[in-house]
Amino acid sequence: MRLKDKVAVVIGAGQSPGEGIGNGRATAIRFAQEGAAVLAVDRHLASAEETAALIAKEGGKAAAFEADVTKEATLAAAIAHAHQKWGRLDILHNNVGVSIAGGDARIDELTEEAFDRVSAINLRGTIMACKHALPIMRAQKSGAIVNISSVAAWVDYPLVCYRATKAAMIAFTQQLAIQNAPFGVRANVILPGLMNTPMAVDTRARVGNRSRADVAAERDAKVPLRGKMGTGWDVANAALFLASDEANFITGVSLPVDGGQMVKVG
Ligand SMILES: NC(=O)c1ccc[n+]([C@@H]2O[C@H](COP(=O)([O-])OP(=O)(O)OC[C@H]3O[C@@H](n4cnc5c(N)ncnc54)[C@H](O)[C@@H]3O)[C@@H](O)[C@H]2O)c1
Repeated sequence: MRLKDKVAVVIGAGQSPGEGIGNGRATAIRFAQEGAAVLAVDRHLASAEETAALIAKEGGKAAAFEADVTKEATLAAAIAHAHQKWGRLDILHNNVGVSIAGGDARIDELTEEAFDRVSAINLRGTIMACKHALPIMRAQKSGAIVNISSVAAWVDYPLVCYRATKAAMIAFTQQLAIQNAPFGVRANVILPGLMNTPMAVDTRARVGNRSRADVAAERDAKVPLRGKMGTGWDVANAALFLASDEANFITGVSLPVDGGQMVKVG
């Protein structure tokens, strides 16, 4: 019970349609398995409810809440709901991020609308969620924020807005860490590599009119460790460590969860 009696808000705790488990849903489930009360927040309430039901089925504590990260008021309401319901806020996990699903493109095809949409979803949403969580965490003199970036911040990645926002997520997390260290609030960021999640694999298969197996094999071949993508559980376990008191002296860290992709040379 590594998160016994903790209260966690997981934003993006539903998942896109497709096979397997998403990073956000897996994280919400892992947090609850380790004793946290989890508010599963998502733009798609039904998907967040499904996550909360999976947690309840295992005997965990969870509730679902609808919020769209592009709307600050809904994020404020989600944080306030968790705080009112369970009396504290120990963990904020910001999982929402989109790439092709948000209309991101290479620079020659990128529109202003797509740039604004992907930036608002990937970056502004996390910043606004933190804005509303921090006063509670600062007053408590404790809290752990885990943000989700991507190895796309560092490795070659063709779509402009995804890469730029995921790199900004690292800078923002470092700023959060240093500005909130005196209050005992930690902030760390995970850089997932190639993961076998519905958003990453099924969306690419759908958009590219390819089979899921074909997209999965292409991604597997790029992973040094065992030649296989990671899963949502790999991200969830890293998030669990960073959110728990085991990471008590760790803040401002960028942790790749990528099967060695970032150290592959050539
Ligand atoms: N899957 C990968 O290979 C991979 C690699 C690197 C980074 N990541 C990052 O991991 C995170 C999650 O990816 P995933 O594959 O688990 O996706 P997912 O589709 O399983 O989960 C994302 C959730 O976010 C929700 N969401 C989307 N827009 C929203 C909005 N405006 N407001 C509220 N909720 C919204 C979706 O409904 C969905 O439930 C993203 O930040 C992604 O960039 C994924």
